[in-house]
Amino acid sequence: MCGIVGYIGSRGAFPILFDGLKKLEYRGYDSAGVAIIEGNEMQLRKSQGNLEVLGEKLKNENFQGRIGLGHTRWATHGKPSDANAHPHLDCRGRLALVHNGIIENFQEIKRKLEEEGHFFSSETDTEVVVHLVEKFFQGDLVKAVRRATKELEGSYAIAVINCESPEQIVAYRHDSPLILGIGDGEFFLASDIPALLPYTRRVLILEDGEMAELNRTNFRVFDSHGVQIQKEIEEIDWDPEMAEKKGFSHYMLKEIHEQPDVLRRLLSDPLQGSGLELPQIASILERLEKINRIFVVACGTAYHSGLIGKALLERTTGIPVEVDMASEFRYRSPLVGEESLVIVVTQSGETADTLAALRYAREKNAQTLGIINVKGSTISREADDVIYIKAGPEIAVASTKAYLNMVAAFYLLALKMGQGNVDQENLKELLRLLRGIPAQLEKVLQKGDKAVREASEYLSRWENAFFVGRGLDFSLALEGALKLKEISYIHAEAYAAGELKHGTLALIEEGIPVVALLTQEKLLEKMISNVQEIRARGGYVLGITQEKLAQRLEGEVDFIMTVPSTEDMLTPLLATVPLQLLSFYTAELRGCPIDQPRNLAKSVTVE
Ligand code: G6P
Repeated sequence: MCGIVGYIGSRGAFPILFDGLKKLEYRGYDSAGVAIIEGNEMQLRKSQGNLEVLGEKLKNENFQGRIGLGHTRWATHGKPSDANAHPHLDCRGRLALVHNGIIENFQEIKRKLEEEGHFFSSETDTEVVVHLVEKFFQGDLVKAVRRATKELEGSYAIAVINCESPEQIVAYRHDSPLILGIGDGEFFLASDIPALLPYTRRVLILEDGEMAELNRTNFRVFDSHGVQIQKEIEEIDWDPEMAEKKGFSHYMLKEIHEQPDVLRRLLSDPLQGSGLELPQIASILERLEKINRIFVVACGTAYHSGLIGKALLERTTGIPVEVDMASEFRYRSPLVGEESLVIVVTQSGETADTLAALRYAREKNAQTLGIINVKGSTISREADDVIYIKAGPEIAVASTKAYLNMVAAFYLLALKMGQGNVDQENLKELLRLLRGIPAQLEKVLQKGDKAVREASEYLSRWENAFFVGRGLDFSLALEGALKLKEISYIHAEAYAAGELKHGTLALIEEGIPVVALLTQEKLLEKMISNVQEIRARGGYVLGITQEKLAQRLEGEVDFIMTVPSTEDMLTPLLATVPLQLLSFYTAELRGCPIDQPRNLAKSVTVE
């Protein structure tokens, strides 16, 4: 939620801040702003709307300042407006501050500060922080920020600049991410790595309670007691190009097309020999006998990958698996204990509810495993073990390649954890087929998407749609419906196909689109019956199946999309692509802002 950037160096700050914000816009895009110190004056420009709106407003400005902060917002306290956009200033307009997170006790602080004579110009929680820094500033910005943070409850990454000390940025992190970029005679800070990649791959990830001071020639980091510490600089192996659109119209489309490569990258080490290597879970394998229950906890798309994970893990390990939405997990007092394995799944590694679930599991002494994309993220540092999904930066709010690799990580995990139970010939065959999936995905993407485009044309004319499937196809249907809802704003619901007749069939009317996942050969007859129930009531069925099953569906569905044939167990890895494309083209036909759907943000760091 919200992206922050900062720059200090010898170049003009504005283009660097603006470019960084573009890379972070996935974190929020309802307003944006920058503050730059020009000479001895604070220049503040902010605006409701996305960055394009701000860029348009500032196109004739010629900033010279070489130090500044920027922010792109996802509103929590105070509606999107010019006044509520960050940066926020103190009473005298000498200090500017940007914030990512929530200050839970801001009302109380605000009341006190108002009594003391501070004047507020926004409805945000953030503004109290800059007034606190003003209150405690006695010539030393580092001390003033530290003192101010002592008053705060909640989650926050903040950065502050001050006209009285125009050679300095001070930043502090508590429960919201903040990363320093170390350049040559210049320093950057950002909420996430892609904003830094065009300038440096040398980064330093702040931990909770740590503070950084950046000046033109150097930087210092202090621990939570204010003691200066030496931290290791990490080299990021992401290529700056990975965070660009590479000629595609949208990040989402680019990320869909990257899937064969990112899957290959994930599978290459584990499947390089004839067996399956997954050293990341060595300690889990050692304790496997003791594990009597597995919990998979995640949000959104990551949660949907967990539903597939459950089916796979139960099948291979025989251990009961529960899947929880992270926002619900700790409030239902789940029976987590020392003999539990808690798997948290997250692209960003920063989702507040998923982090809280992980901490809950650790308090209960469960063993924890993260399935995570972003290296160095908070969850990756707190989980006992991590399988990185190696999807590279995912910028579009709607997750595609990260979902695919989360699902793939569950295959690796399930096959490795269950290798003692699975028939060895069967295992060998599954691994062979798994190795072939990236090439099959290439075929899905190369063969042209004529059928999917035609299906999208039909779908785009409706305001309601259904997705149905059985078994693994039902889990996939849930993700397909979410994708359609979030980017095309069509109301879509996913149902287990057999469940439709227990109420929802009442909603089937003439022509209504029903996307039917028909990839499970073993369940095909049952699915055909369900599809007939739908068609008999006027539903228009858009089927997705494996090539080898297409013939059996002739005359049974209104429209067919196919993916290459494989084992039933592996079809989610292929069938997810037509679902992604279906949403993409439908949203495109409806003129939706695909990479930045309304009201959403990619990284949700508030509960
Ligand atoms: C947000 C994003 C979703 C994502 C979910 C969980 O809602 O818009 O695409 O699935 O958060 O994010 P995570 O980073 O934990 O996977």
